[in-house]
Amino acid sequence: MLAATTRAADDTVTDALDPKAMREPLPNAWYCIGQAATLKPGGMRPVELNGEQIVVGRDASGALFAMRDRCPHRGMALSKGRFDGSTVMCPFHGWRFGTDGRCRDVPTLSETDSSDFSRIVVQRFPVIESAGFLWINPYLGPAVTEDIPAVPELGFEAAGCLVVELVVEASFDLTTLSLVDPGHVAFVHDSWWFRPSKELREKVKTFIPVPHGFVMSSHATTKSSPVYKLLGGVPDVEIEFRLPGVRLERIVAGDKRVANYTFATPLSNNRTMLTNALYWSMPLLNLLKPVARPLMRQFLTQDQQVLQHAQAGLDRKPTMVLLGQGDLPSQWYFRLKREALEAARAGRSFENPLSRQELRWRS
Ligand code: FES
Ligand SMILES: [Fe+2]
Repeated sequence: MLAATTRAADDTVTDALDPKAMREPLPNAWYCIGQAATLKPGGMRPVELNGEQIVVGRDASGALFAMRDRCPHRGMALSKGRFDGSTVMCPFHGWRFGTDGRCRDVPTLSETDSSDFSRIVVQRFPVIESAGFLWINPYLGPAVTEDIPAVPELGFEAAGCLVVELVVEASFDLTTLSLVDPGHVAFVHDSWWFRPSKELREKVKTFIPVPHGFVMSSHATTKSSPVYKLLGGVPDVEIEFRLPGVRLERIVAGDKRVANYTFATPLSNNRTMLTNALYWSMPLLNLLKPVARPLMRQFLTQDQQVLQHAQAGLDRKPTMVLLGQGDLPSQWYFRLKREALEAARAGRSFENPLSRQELRWRS
């Protein structure tokens, strides 16, 4: 959150970021916790999300569940136990829990024991599946009526998908800012295959508010990345950012579709997972998968390295100077986040504080 903002005549904006709030992701929102296909019926796995330890699983019928990864008896991680497709057995003393979180059995009780275990419940979390990923909302506060940002959908039949996940030792906010920051691309992502020209060029783009974020309107890219050349022709590209930390790049060329989705997930205070998913509609592109995977990993590693060094600097002094129109999307992120927090506190609907704007910068 912005603790203070001062605006000078030359459009310089200095934001003093409260170091504590800076590390707090939106509490009531859906976060990507990994690929859906890797969780088979009868399977479960531990997940770290916003400081919570959660076990997520799929019962024998395919239904998802997520609950706190902590046995109420003595705190054992339930994910270390066994799941038979309907109940999870704690490996410490054999207590069993249904996927609804209710205790079903305490095998060590004697028949003469009058203890009632049916009221023992493990905290559950909502979990859903979309665009090939699992999403959990880790919110545990009082019930609110406000609609929380919806999870992204794909919108076309993918012939293939490539997913790379990377953990960044940086706060959720700093990592998420990199998803809306045009200024770093020429300096951080300067690989030949992505950014062949070293020259900075003036860019003019129109930004339009969407329900929980903003979209850089669809435009014809001409002298752009060689990656686009694979599509044959000049594609239309649309880049949407939405809370809590979701970037959706959609590329359309005739009947061909490519989508590059990036999700930021807060694991703990200072660790954020970046998930990048590239989907395409053309079966032929599946052949490029072995080549594309290391390139995508290289791209994410470039962000990871620079973010970790920047986090070290922010740990020493948690202030940023946001300057010029290229930094406006970063300021919008904080405005959107503040509005989400204020709306939740006031019990009112989220109202996007942004308006349509044309931005110019060099990148
Ligand atoms: S700690 Fe889980 S059964 Fe004892
Ligand atoms: Fe980046």
